[in-house]
Amino acid sequence: MCGIVGYFGSKNAADVIISGLEKLEYRGYDSAGIAVNEGNELEIRKFSGRLSVLADDVKENPMKGNLGIGHTRWATHGEPTIVNSHPHFNKDKSIAVVHNGIIENYLDLRKELEQDGVEFLSDTDTEVIPFLIDKYYEGDLLDAVYKAVGRLRGAYALGILHKDHADEMVAVRKDSPLIAGVGEGEFFVASDIPALLNYTRNVYYLDNGEVVHIKGDKIEILNDKKEVVDKKLNKVTWDIEAAEKGGYKFFMEKEIFEQPQGCKDTLERRLDKDGHIVLDDIKMTKEELENLENIYIIACGTAYNAGVLGKTAMQKFMGIPVYTDIASEFRYNDNFVNEHSLVILVSQSGETADTLAVLRDSKEKGARVLAVTNVVGSTIAREADDVFYTWAGTEIAVASTKAYTTQIVSLYMISLNFALKMGKITEEYYFEMIEKMKELPGKIQEVLDNKDEVYEVAKQIVNKEHAFFLGRGIDYSLAMEGSLKLKEVSYIHAEAFAAGELKHGTIALIEEGTPVISLATQQNLFEKMVSNMEEVRARGANVIAIAQRHNKEVEKVSSHTLYIPDSDDLLSPVIAVVPMQLLALMVSDMKGLDVDKPRNLAKSVTVE
Ligand code: F6R
Repeated sequence: MCGIVGYFGSKNAADVIISGLEKLEYRGYDSAGIAVNEGNELEIRKFSGRLSVLADDVKENPMKGNLGIGHTRWATHGEPTIVNSHPHFNKDKSIAVVHNGIIENYLDLRKELEQDGVEFLSDTDTEVIPFLIDKYYEGDLLDAVYKAVGRLRGAYALGILHKDHADEMVAVRKDSPLIAGVGEGEFFVASDIPALLNYTRNVYYLDNGEVVHIKGDKIEILNDKKEVVDKKLNKVTWDIEAAEKGGYKFFMEKEIFEQPQGCKDTLERRLDKDGHIVLDDIKMTKEELENLENIYIIACGTAYNAGVLGKTAMQKFMGIPVYTDIASEFRYNDNFVNEHSLVILVSQSGETADTLAVLRDSKEKGARVLAVTNVVGSTIAREADDVFYTWAGTEIAVASTKAYTTQIVSLYMISLNFALKMGKITEEYYFEMIEKMKELPGKIQEVLDNKDEVYEVAKQIVNKEHAFFLGRGIDYSLAMEGSLKLKEVSYIHAEAFAAGELKHGTIALIEEGTPVISLATQQNLFEKMVSNMEEVRARGANVIAIAQRHNKEVEKVSSHTLYIPDSDDLLSPVIAVVPMQLLALMVSDMKGLDVDKPRNLAKSVTVE
């Protein structure tokens, strides 16, 4: 996600900003830029690619000035090109803006400004902001910013400069992170604390709607009515590494807790004024969808597990068969991909070698390729015909968590959109599902708030050599993800089994005390699942259940139950995976293992 740093003081602004942006690299980015007030003009430099390209340029050709703003961009609207990078500016480059977030009504604003004669250079939502400020500017920068911000809908953290205001900076926060820092005769704004820690530990944590006004030797925090807020200046006591983790012990933990936001961003920012899903760059028409002979969802690891759930939704909504496979198998099997196929590839990194190979092979066979990925500008995103981005934000921990839940949400959104287009579901059902999906972030949050209950289960598992995960139907797909999480970060041997298949062999493995995490979240299979739990319990298993809250029956066959909020069966995996992710994290931590970088694993598997 984008990073912002702003500086005003006695030091060289570009140097401070670049060193701050380096500390925000963990947020992920694909381009970087900076604007410095050099007296009577704003010097703006931007580059796509690594921050070091900008840093080298500035080293070779220094920027003079002690007031500036900088940005690392994680593309959402428009490719990661130089024109799309920030800072964005108005026609005469008198105003420069950096932005983290998404302006939801930018199309309307763009139209209005175009009618005023504005010509836009970029594809971004951000570019409307400097032009809006320009429209309202009458010599008072702060006033113009308030007027412009009053027109914006969406999420934004903004840093703003005007060339004629050589001692003034304005920054605004709504729904995107922003803090302000105070040093010895110098001021900062930034997306996150690490950017400031080399210079100061005194920070203001901004609330939504607050504005930072730095002018001369004064910093003020104002509310949305332009009144000065009496804010507490806090002292940061963490070190840099801890600060990057936002106070969490591990990136995996931070990312698990970011899931409500990731799911909200992925879904709600894609809904238009009437509440319909907008599929960004996916341009498949009704005719093209009806001409499909087959749909494949192909991926690796966790992304594959999400794909299996995507298949269930797609089949249910669209009423046609969908096939899933692991990329490393699919590429060498005789498959039936042809010019009437849609191949959906799911990949957090967008760089996984096996998935990429399937992409190239499928394109050669004439198939249409749709990518669901988290990384803008990744190879899979660039080479696919259509792309849908999961807006999970950068995932740093090797074990994938927030990518998984946002991948499921994305696949469900695509399925609903296609099914409505094809007339396979009614508008009523479509909107009903969207409404239910909107409840997911709140329900995930409830599970996170009850994390102590998972800790009790973690204590029962930490010293075991084996653990089994059981489920039927959707819960079986989910069990695969639960067991993958546990084995990769805790090194406990974990297996997922289809509960109905147990008696055909697997049940022989059950002995006194074997932990069996039993998923019973599906209403139509609930009774069958309870019988399977009874079967393993009778053979000595320690049955730990995960069930919807209303299904108290499950307690008769379990030694411990982790309840999740009630929800539609199809949507329950997005909630039910969370206690399993927490379980894996806690067991790994209890064992003193390297949670974020488990042995033998890499975040992006770019070799076959
Ligand atoms: C497990 C995990 C891996 C990845 C897999 C695919 O936690 O992270 O199983 O899901 O390597 O990676 P992407 O999604 O980048 O293609």
